[in-house]
Amino acid sequence: MVVRSPKMSQRAKESEPFRAMAFGARADELIAQGHNVIKLGLGEPDFGAPAVVRQAMIEQMDGRPLPYTPSFGITPLRGAISRFYKQRHNLDVDPRRIAITCGGSEALMLAIAATIDPGDEVLAADPSYPCNRELVTMFGGTVVDVPTDAASRYHLSPETVAGAWTDRTKAVMITSPSNPTGTCIPYPALASICDYAKRRGAWRIIDETYLDLADTEPDGSSIRSALSCDPDAITVNSFSKYFGMTGWRLGWMVLPEPLLNAVDNLAMNTLLCAPTPVQWAALACFTPEAYEECDRRRDEFRARRTLVVDGLRRIGLPVEVEPNGAFYAYFSIASTGLDAWTFCSRLLEERYVALTPGRDFAVATADTHVRLSYAASRSALREGLERVGEFVDSLRR
Ligand SMILES: Cc1ncc(COP(=O)(O)O)c(C=O)c1O
Repeated sequence: MVVRSPKMSQRAKESEPFRAMAFGARADELIAQGHNVIKLGLGEPDFGAPAVVRQAMIEQMDGRPLPYTPSFGITPLRGAISRFYKQRHNLDVDPRRIAITCGGSEALMLAIAATIDPGDEVLAADPSYPCNRELVTMFGGTVVDVPTDAASRYHLSPETVAGAWTDRTKAVMITSPSNPTGTCIPYPALASICDYAKRRGAWRIIDETYLDLADTEPDGSSIRSALSCDPDAITVNSFSKYFGMTGWRLGWMVLPEPLLNAVDNLAMNTLLCAPTPVQWAALACFTPEAYEECDRRRDEFRARRTLVVDGLRRIGLPVEVEPNGAFYAYFSIASTGLDAWTFCSRLLEERYVALTPGRDFAVATADTHVRLSYAASRSALREGLERVGEFVDSLRR
């Protein structure tokens, strides 16, 4: 009998890597060889979890049994998140509608699994978070990359959404603050897009992973959750960024009532539940001590942002739209004469600074833009900017 190799699925063959990870891996190789690499490529806060949360985690490890939890998570944590919405965002969110997940990533997967059928189209800003595109593709849908510009702060606008709408449009996905641009969608645009999609029977999937690392709207008013204008939107959030808990794998989603049973079924058949000790330890996130620490860090991110935006301007690589959230700056390197991939590769190999090329996030700006993550110390940022400046000078000379 001829032994044939098993064939992998079409979906597996077509999957794309998250290239930022590949640049990160190369940076680690260079570090292992003894080079002093400044890593400004990955979207990972450099602080770790708040001290009270780490202590709470240690207490979880005292030998107690750590059984599965309900698939939507432990009741006290769902209640704590509901109170967080009230205190921070002045929103009433029924804890029943809050599902605890393994990071925002599982929340995004469940949101897409619950709403997207093969052939459906999902509108998303170009540029945006690359994993969403992969997830939609995995479930047979197609992401329609909607062009954006500086005027829309690199977000969807009511006009571009209307222009891209077809009878196959099943959902609109918005990430605000955005990865890779760090910009928030202006609230009136968010409200208008949600209303437009709702009236056409489409889902609104709003990724608010960085919401609590946002500061103010350009007009000075505070940033609001999409739940303020669209209580039936599906919103996704995470403990990874504001609470600095990337590796702990914890997030949550707020679901509209009609999706509760279906998403519960999907969640219990896939990951069963988020890690039990992490859920219990995360209760300590919602304490004055943790808020105090996380808010201090958010202020530190703002100070770093100023350092980065000013530094890039001095180098002659201005950030067209100043970020007002997260910890990313997305800027054009077209004036250097290199494409973004070559720019990042050479910058890493020759000057030991890791950035991420636009290709991960974008179609239109794939070759012209790069993302810098300022989740790094001020001294690392200063050193990194100096090296970028020297590199750009050498190219222009
Ligand atoms: C926009 C956005 N959404 C979701 C995630 C997923 O994060 P996590 O699964 O760690 O919550 C990330 C991670 O970088 C992100 O940038």
